[in-house]
Amino acid sequence: MSLLSIITKALNALDLDDEVNRLVIDRTVNVCRNRPHPWSTKHDYISWSGLTDRTYNARLLPAKAGDRVLDLCAAPGGKTLQLAARGCHVTALDVSDHRLEWVRENLARTGLTAELVAADALRWQPDALFDHILIDAPCSATGIFRRHPDVLHLKGNTDLAPVTLLQAALLRRAAAWLKPGGRLIYATCSLFPKEGERIAERVIAGLPREMIEASELPAGLKPAADGWVRTLPGQVEGGIDGFFIARFRKLPD
Ligand SMILES: C[S@@+](CC[C@H](N)C(=O)[O-])C[C@H]1O[C@@H](n2cnc3c(N)ncnc32)[C@H](O)[C@@H]1O
Repeated sequence: MSLLSIITKALNALDLDDEVNRLVIDRTVNVCRNRPHPWSTKHDYISWSGLTDRTYNARLLPAKAGDRVLDLCAAPGGKTLQLAARGCHVTALDVSDHRLEWVRENLARTGLTAELVAADALRWQPDALFDHILIDAPCSATGIFRRHPDVLHLKGNTDLAPVTLLQAALLRRAAAWLKPGGRLIYATCSLFPKEGERIAERVIAGLPREMIEASELPAGLKPAADGWVRTLPGQVEGGIDGFFIARFRKLPD
């Protein structure tokens, strides 16, 4: 069985809508049959590394030097590094001690600093509110299947209920830790609307969604009518990971 037919079969088994399936399969067919691998040219790699390295969502947070920023679910620390490099006081929290060690190593390697907290975000409470919060939530990771096709087999038939409950709870809890006027980014690298759009459209009192503007995005991407960003692997030349980003703004009490 060819790689293409394995991937196509796995995609068809997922509960994606037809349009999503079509885009994903089209791109996969192109990549497998006609085109060089998206990472095979320097140009593609450079063009899309800012997106595929999954740190893009941190750029949509208007955090500036001196701001207190919480990176919830931080390991291995890509966004923590980016925010720390901007001069933010970052609290990088992750439930996994082991994965937090990677954040520590990455900070040491780059000479950047952040406060590391090993804790379950569902139980932890901060001492003070944050200017901004980033949640790169645990998810099915189906959006990275271009690079890891096995993820469709490993996660494709997984019951999403537990992880979507966790995602919604993380968003609700974090909303209470944000200063008025502060922004919160919710992101996942999932293809499933249940882990993206369906979470972001939940109404949380005092935390309306804020439109992400086209001018904030790289060429080739545009926000959806609801103001969030949804990418699909077949969407841009050279390919891209599938991910979802929504931004919220905390209203004054
Ligand atoms: C998608 S990864 C985050 C990637 C990271 N933001 C980056 O840019 O490198 C999700 C992380 O959530 C963590 N996590 C899962 N459940 C958690 C919980 N209840 N509290 C805190 N962290 C959790 C996992 O250990 C994992 O490291």
